[in-house]
Order: sequence, then structure tokens, then C-alpha cells
Amino acid sequence: MFEVIKTEGRARRGVFTCAHGTVQTPVFMNVGTQAAIKGAVSALDLKEIGCQVELSNTYHLHLRPGDQVVRQMGGLHRFMRWDGPILTDSGGFQVFSLSGLRKIKEEGVTFASHIDGRRVFMGPEESMQIQSNLGSDIAMAFDECVENPATYEYAKASCERTLRWLERCKVEHDRLNALPDTVNPDQMLFGINQGATFADLRVWHMKEIAKLDCDGYAIGGLAVGEPTQMMYDIIDAVEPYMPADKPRYLMGVGTPSNIIEAVARGVDFFDCVMPARNARHAKLFTWSGTRNMRNEKYKLDEAPIDPECDCPVCRNFSRGYLRHLFVADEMLAMRLAVLHNLYFYNQLTRRIREALDVGDFALFRQEYSEKLAARL
Ligand code: GUN
Ligand code: ZN
Repeated sequence: MFEVIKTEGRARRGVFTCAHGTVQTPVFMNVGTQAAIKGAVSALDLKEIGCQVELSNTYHLHLRPGDQVVRQMGGLHRFMRWDGPILTDSGGFQVFSLSGLRKIKEEGVTFASHIDGRRVFMGPEESMQIQSNLGSDIAMAFDECVENPATYEYAKASCERTLRWLERCKVEHDRLNALPDTVNPDQMLFGINQGATFADLRVWHMKEIAKLDCDGYAIGGLAVGEPTQMMYDIIDAVEPYMPADKPRYLMGVGTPSNIIEAVARGVDFFDCVMPARNARHAKLFTWSGTRNMRNEKYKLDEAPIDPECDCPVCRNFSRGYLRHLFVADEMLAMRLAVLHNLYFYNQLTRRIREALDVGDFALFRQEYSEKLAARL
């Protein structure tokens, strides 16, 4: 269930309810690809960093440990000990970005596992079966995320196929939810808009998938190398055709500014590996811009990473200590940095929500959209 409780321009403040709880939107989902957040962060830490939704991956968990294993361990929630909402991506992106040789047919995709090269087949039905075994709250449709740049002909054929795949996902998803021993019979299904950088394909595809009455709609195939303005233009083009009463999810995006700009264009859900990945490279987000924690200038700095941040790391440790941990290659450096950056992203969407609640989002956007991109 999704309810928009307030709007400002096209920005929406909403409440989304699924089997494992209620989510305040706009929301950032924390990426735990293999049922773990990279940087040694477990479900025990997720509540402390303000996480509302955890995101895991069909492709990875199918290959290792196997979705049957997760099912036998009681489903993903029980397996990783996170009892809040979980979204699983369909494999449609990872099959194309991670695996080596792959062959796309109408039935699905045959690809080589990035772990051992084994050949694996995944189509809409397999993706739904795996996500059903994982028992996530939101399953994503199996799609093709086309490479950038793509020709018009290829993008057209691909998004027509992605539409047919969504029709098959729906049928299989309904069938699985109705089985007597389904892990999560209330699992939802989100459709994914594709169409590369072609506005007419994007709009056509969006109109078609909107007819299928999914529980939410995502925009996929963006942040794959196209200019930022082009990404914004595509959101502007498809947004009017996204059902207003369903949540909207911009997949794999982005920087803090990207998130603010997409909220301004009507997006509700986000996920991105950037906060955790940057943290592992000592790049930390703050409310006045980004810092490189390895910098010599922090050697004797007693201040927290961000004086404006009240995360567990900033409440306890100094920049000088963090810098030392990075320079000495201590694993703790990564863990503390990841905790801070994820807290920052969760706090960013929280502050966006608070601004929307009081009608101050335009002001917030003006103040932070560029400021957060500064390098300190
Ligand atoms: N994650 C980022 N982009 C995409 C996409 O286009 N499709 C899927 N399934 N996941 C994504
Ligand atoms: Zn912090």
C-alpha cells in the first residue's frame, strides 16, 4: 500500500506499507548485495544507521549460497536477521553487468557465472522463483538494462521484450504468491521502465507497463554513463506517465545531488552502492561536501568527520583517528567509514522528508543540491 501524504511541486512525501513494516518516503535503500553490506556491516548495525529498507540481489544469492539454501534457512529476513522491509533486484541488471558471455533470447538469458564460469539460465519465471524463495517484500521484474550508448533499433526491440518479460513475471509472481508454502505470500512486484536514452521509447514503455497494475514502478537503465542532464530529462519525460498512486523507484542513483534532483522530479525510492563504495576508498560525505580521509591534513585533526553528523562514528571518533586507520590499512577504517556514509544517505532522505513535511523542500534543494557536491 502506498499513500502520498503531501506534495511540493512534483516532489512527494509518502508512506509505503509492506509485509515487514512501514517505510517513510522518499527513502534510500541500503545495498546488501549478498545479504551483507560491504564493509562488514550487519543487520545489527542497520537500525543504528537509520536504514528503513535493505536491498539484496537475486543474481548473487542464486549463485551463492543458492536461493534454495536461503529458503531452507527460513527466507532472507531470518537468514540475515533483518526483520524490516527487503527489496530484491531481479538479476536483470547484474546478468548484463557482471557475467561474461551471455546470450539473450525470448525465453531469457544464458550467462556465465562470475564466480566459476558455470553456465546459468535466468528468465522471468526463474527470477520470480528465486525472489519468491528469498521471500523479499518487493520483487523487481526481470528486465534488460541495455548498454549505453545503444542504437534505436536495439533499444526498441529490447524494451518490447522487457515488456513481454514483465507480463510473464506477473503471471508467475501471482502463481507463486498463491502457493501454500510460499515464504512471503504478500510479496509485491515492481515493474521497470527501460528504453535507453530515447524519450519516445521510454514513454511508450512506461504507458504499457502502467497498464499491468504492478505494485510500484522503477526507472532502470539510467546512471550507466549518460550525462546527468540526460538522466533528468528522461525522468521528466516518463514521470507524467507513472501512476501517481504507486511508488516510483530510480534504480542505482546516485550522488546526494542526484537524489535531491530526482525527488524534485517525483521519485520516491533510491538505492546506490556509492556511499559504501566511496567509503571503502576513504571518500566521505558531509553536509558541506566530500572529504578524502587519507589526506595528510587530517593527521592531528580532533574534529569528527562531520560536525553536523550525529552518527555513531562522528559521536565517538576523530578525523585524525580515521585517517590513521585508513593509512594503516585497518579493516576498521572501512567499517567506520561505511557506517558514516550510509548514515549520511539515510539522513539525507530523512531531511528531505522533513523539508517536505513543512513545505520547505524548494529551500532545501536550493541550499544543498550543489553544496553537497563540493570537495573539501
Ligand atoms: N539497477 C540499476 N539499474 C538497473 C536496471 O536497469 N535494471 C535492474 N533490474 N536493476 C538495476
Ligand atoms: Zn557521521
